[in-house]
Amino acid sequence: MKKTIALTILLVSLASCSDSDTYQDIEPQPNAPTNPTDPTNPTDPTNPTTPTAITYNKDVKSIIDANCIGCHASGRSAAFRPLTTFAQVKAAVESAGLLNRIQLQNGQQGLMPQGGRMAQASIDLIVKWNTDGLKEN
Ligand code: HEC
Repeated sequence: MKKTIALTILLVSLASCSDSDTYQDIEPQPNAPTNPTDPTNPTDPTNPTTPTAITYNKDVKSIIDANCIGCHASGRSAAFRPLTTFAQVKAAVESAGLLNRIQLQNGQQGLMPQGGRMAQASIDLIVKWNTDGLKEN
């Protein structure tokens, strides 16, 4: 039994002597280039936590097309206030209370769309579009 323990200790210490370069391997590399896809890199546009501005073409148009232009386009019930272009939607935010209309609760007078509130994520996105400066692109 004692012999076995002594042999084990001997083998372990021999093994640890043989890979003397291990320490160097785990040293940090001072000149390593920063990884552009590093999830903590704030300048990486693919990083999901990088704040990117909401724009009409990228984010807002598809929501308006899906929820509003059934009425807010020429020949429709709300043709007096078309929402089919960037300039029209921007103007509706600035001077026709669009943000207030979409944030009303179900059942409240004036809610848009008339049939019921949009998903909260869509509402938040349009509100943030305004906060981000109503950019087209
Ligand atoms: C079912 C038809 C319908 C849909 C869908 C609809 N609207 Fe309307 N909207 C109207 C009508 C009719 C009015 C005019 C009556 C009123 O002011 O409530 C109006 C009025 C408005 C006004 C006020 C315009 C003004 O000049 O006073 C805004 C802003 C508006 N809608 C935005 C939207 C937005 C944004 C959406 C989509 C998220 C939407 N609407 C979806 C029918 C609709």
